[in-house]
Amino acid sequence: MSDKPKVWVSRPLFADVLDYLARHVEVEVESEESTRTAAQLRQRLAVVDGAILGLSERVGADVLEGNNRLKVIANLGVGFNNLDIDAMTGAGVLATNTPDVLNESVADYAWALMLAAARRVGAAERWLRAGHWAGSAMRFDDWLGVDIHGKTLGVLGMGRIGQAIARRAAGFDMRVLYHNRSRLAADIERDCRANWVEKDTLLSESDHLILVLPFTPANRHAMGAPELARMKPSAVLVNVARGGIVDDVALAAALREKRIGAAALDVFEGEPSVHPDLLALDNVVLSPHIASASEDTRRAMALLAAENLLAALGLGQSAGHPPTPLNPEVMDRW
Ligand code: DGY
Repeated sequence: MSDKPKVWVSRPLFADVLDYLARHVEVEVESEESTRTAAQLRQRLAVVDGAILGLSERVGADVLEGNNRLKVIANLGVGFNNLDIDAMTGAGVLATNTPDVLNESVADYAWALMLAAARRVGAAERWLRAGHWAGSAMRFDDWLGVDIHGKTLGVLGMGRIGQAIARRAAGFDMRVLYHNRSRLAADIERDCRANWVEKDTLLSESDHLILVLPFTPANRHAMGAPELARMKPSAVLVNVARGGIVDDVALAAALREKRIGAAALDVFEGEPSVHPDLLALDNVVLSPHIASASEDTRRAMALLAAENLLAALGLGQSAGHPPTPLNPEVMDRW
């Protein structure tokens, strides 16, 4: 029997990251991702000192009940709305996330979605693959999209990812507006060439609007029917933040009735299920929550999660000092 701490990794990870973990702890890793009930998760977490979990695993008081062993949950993501931080703090369990390492890749992907939706890349590819091009009488005014260069980009939620998105707009000669609860410092605004406006102005003036705000109960349906009604009929809406920030049913109706031009979504209410109204539409680009999924970035996220986990257990190169803790105060009680 090993006397090393025991950790559970709820999904396959990069082999070198697992090797790094295995030098310090006893690792049990799942060979595939699967959905677990709270009871299954509780059982799994009861017999380990730490765990690396993904965004589909919800940890609340019910999952932690009676667990006196678990010290740390390292979340594979910057967003952590799957974790009840108060419950974890109450149970003396450290939560960590993976900020910063994914900013640029998520910004790249937000642009990929915006470009694809504005220029109808997905629909055109589906049409071509279905064999409609050959023999069709394609017209000069078919497949018209909307331009990106020279237009107004709106960013709702101007944290580090929002700023990375805004900085890219200079290459497309865009005007950039943003809305945030608080206005950014002047030097950051200058660097991003972005101007703060009220949310209503952002909605009505953006040709392309990208959502990057964190999910909180207050942000639920921050883009619902009233907000969609303020947008231009040609506007493109992109969500790389979290499902639930957009009211998916209201969005599907706005897209179907051409009250907005197009949308691109990487995140959904109730994912991995996607509302059938969205699946039925051609003017929306859909992807399975992969905005951070570049080889380099997913590896960096996995390494940061591993470093956080080991550090919380007093191991690895940051022993005792997890790099990105969410509730560091719990460590004072250990
Ligand atoms: C995050 O890190 O929160 C992202 O949603 C992952 O892609």
